[in-house]
Amino acid sequence: TKEISLRPKWLSEYIGQEKIVDNLKIFIEAAKNRSEPLDHTLLSGPPGLGKTTLAGIIANEMGVNLKVTSGPAIEKQGDLASILTNLNNDDVLFIDEIHRLNKSVEEILYPAMEDHALDIIIGKGPSARSIRLDLAPFTLIGATTRAGMLTSPLRDRFGVMLKLDLYDTKSLVEIIMRSAKILNIPIEEEGAIEIAKRSRGTPRIANRLLKRVRDYAEVREEGVITTKVAMKGLNLLEIDKYGLDNIDRRIILTMIEKFYGRPVGIDAISAAIGEDKGTVEDVYEPYLMQIGFIIRTPRGRVATKRAYDHFGIEYKGD
Ligand code: ADE
Repeated sequence: TKEISLRPKWLSEYIGQEKIVDNLKIFIEAAKNRSEPLDHTLLSGPPGLGKTTLAGIIANEMGVNLKVTSGPAIEKQGDLASILTNLNNDDVLFIDEIHRLNKSVEEILYPAMEDHALDIIIGKGPSARSIRLDLAPFTLIGATTRAGMLTSPLRDRFGVMLKLDLYDTKSLVEIIMRSAKILNIPIEEEGAIEIAKRSRGTPRIANRLLKRVRDYAEVREEGVITTKVAMKGLNLLEIDKYGLDNIDRRIILTMIEKFYGRPVGIDAISAAIGEDKGTVEDVYEPYLMQIGFIIRTPRGRVATKRAYDHFGIEYKGD
């Protein structure tokens, strides 16, 4: 049996990120009216917010093929050259984690983006020469967890830059109700709200929790996801009422206890809990900032009173 896809295929089905959707509708309609490919587009934001989904929607709305790859998957210039030469007119090439492209591969991309040209070097040493091949016009969609991680020559070549934000509870509830309908999962809106509140603003997490709570509902309850069933299922998964997992808890407790609540840098936090700095910065910190547990000051990150309250620790600041 085919895996049922929860990914929306059209902008009209896409929930949340309203500003991005409104802008994209205009850019897509304008490009189509001019029979041109969409300008190269950079999507940035934390993982799981729908960057790949949006690339698929853009290709679908434009009526072109989508080719999906990622920065780390393209090792050599030749790998990218072969992808580029196999694109058809106006196709979308999606490169996930585009900030992880190596420098020599990135240099192939510049003339490809600017002039749809492929510069290849023939021969070696003094007799080496470069020849230029024409490519089909295409749209590059790059995705990155932080736009700041791109080199400026690459960033400058994107005509459209869209920053995805963490979703609010209302949008996540809509997404969960839509997914439950597609997957035939009996759920009450209140149950969806409980799951949404613990999904860290992230649809990918919301959909995963929906499936795990369904398992719990089917095996231990009557199959329907009510508030109570959602709460019990989520508690078993050790996800607390803010959706914090063990790593979030360690980050906050380290800031409060190990660093005595003083401003602290991301390097020190990551080292203290033994997690990758990039992951702490891209995955954990944005959510902890969204729920107001961490603020950034010029001297470093500090935990807020709300965080102290959540962990039942007396707050001595302010
Ligand atoms: N599934 C995951 N993300 C979604 C979104 N933004 N809209 C609709 N369905 C989704």
